[in-house]
Amino acid sequence: MASSPNHHHNHTPNGDRKTHVPKKPKLSPAFITASEIASEFSHHDPNIARINNGSFGSCPAFIIEAQRQWQLKYLAQPDHFYFNELTKGIHQSRTIIKDLINADHVEEVSIVDNATTAAAIVLQQAAWGFSESKFDKGDAVVMLHYAYGSVKKSIEAYISRAGGYVIEVPLPFPLTSNDEIITEFKKALEKGKANGRRVRLAVIDHITSMPCVVIPVRELVKICREEGVDQVFVDAAHSIGCTDVDMKLIGADYYTSNLHKWFFCPPAIAFLYCRKSPKCPELHHPVVSHEYGNGLAIESAWIGTRDYSPQLVVPSVLDFVNRFEGGIEGIKKRNHETVVEMGNMLAKAWGTHLGCPPEMCASMIMIGLPACLGISSEKDTQKLRTHLREKFGVEVPIYFRAPKNGEVESITGYCRISHQVYNKVDDYYKFRDAINQLVSEGFTCASLLSN
Ligand SMILES: Cc1ncc(COP(=O)(O)O)c(C=O)c1O
Repeated sequence: MASSPNHHHNHTPNGDRKTHVPKKPKLSPAFITASEIASEFSHHDPNIARINNGSFGSCPAFIIEAQRQWQLKYLAQPDHFYFNELTKGIHQSRTIIKDLINADHVEEVSIVDNATTAAAIVLQQAAWGFSESKFDKGDAVVMLHYAYGSVKKSIEAYISRAGGYVIEVPLPFPLTSNDEIITEFKKALEKGKANGRRVRLAVIDHITSMPCVVIPVRELVKICREEGVDQVFVDAAHSIGCTDVDMKLIGADYYTSNLHKWFFCPPAIAFLYCRKSPKCPELHHPVVSHEYGNGLAIESAWIGTRDYSPQLVVPSVLDFVNRFEGGIEGIKKRNHETVVEMGNMLAKAWGTHLGCPPEMCASMIMIGLPACLGISSEKDTQKLRTHLREKFGVEVPIYFRAPKNGEVESITGYCRISHQVYNKVDDYYKFRDAINQLVSEGFTCASLLSN
């Protein structure tokens, strides 16, 4: 039926309804479909159950194309790109990030390559505190025992070498409550403050990598404030798109998250938030270029000629995530629910348990592996991981937990599974069946040759 040419003129100029026009049927918003999701990630190796989004993240075809367009813009006319596009584009990405993380000012948000770089920026500044005699030798820096390996190395390179005293917060695993973390953290701060020392910096993970646990950062930052810790840096490499990220609520001085892990950006991009405060010392990018001294955000936006495209696709990522019900919040919520469901399914199938209660995890969860696999060292976890990849087409990281004194037949290996939008239940069934097959064959890690 042809519609009347006037059918949309159903309101008088003052807004009164004049004629009755049948309402358009309410269309539900066109959310991305399962087959569209599959096609966005069709470049993933189909032979691998990729249940390890946590390590390297993932990037859909839509964003890969957006990135390509930025790269071509640069290659087409680099001078135009440099003078007219780059600064504007990075500023736009920073503004989006500022809103996503509830920061006060765009100046508080710098874009850097990754969490590793962000940690170097913060730790380098702390090292200057020692070398410029603002800190006393022996002043303390506190970090979690489960801090990420490369960040621990950075603490060694910048802090220990400068004369700082590094204190590790031991954490039990498996964990049953936040209180266990809070108690250990308080004890470490006490140790840090002993003998009149000052705690100059606390480095706190938001989501530890291995074993993975969501750390109660708000509470720990609050304790740092009460205990007079100078500065708090939250290493939240996994957080954006995975757990709640709110700068005002968390209250740290520095906070970094990658966007290439859970926010669909191509490698590599992270933000480093630095609270605007007269107390905060000036940070600098370790790669010094023309913009040195113009503030970290500006310094970081030009660290020499390189590919800046991952930093420029953030607006496109927003378009992508908004095709999902609830946008990034919806994705995050469903990832959490599904990873918990899959974790419980695996624990039940193997007769084991989760590494922590569901509320202490986000889109990744730890599950005990059957004790009979005989995981007895870090090396065994590497060998088993390789075996699962090569013989079963399963990609999953494994954690070794040394048995405590007197423990026998205890679980010494935990796997970390992730869930992201491209995952299917079959990915987890493939993993379940692989482990069940190994168990039924009487496999033990001792039977694997070292690689
Ligand atoms: C807690 C934590 N910090 C830092 C990093 C380093 O991230 P990137 O390699 O992107 O710098 C990771 C990576 O997994 C991590 O889990």
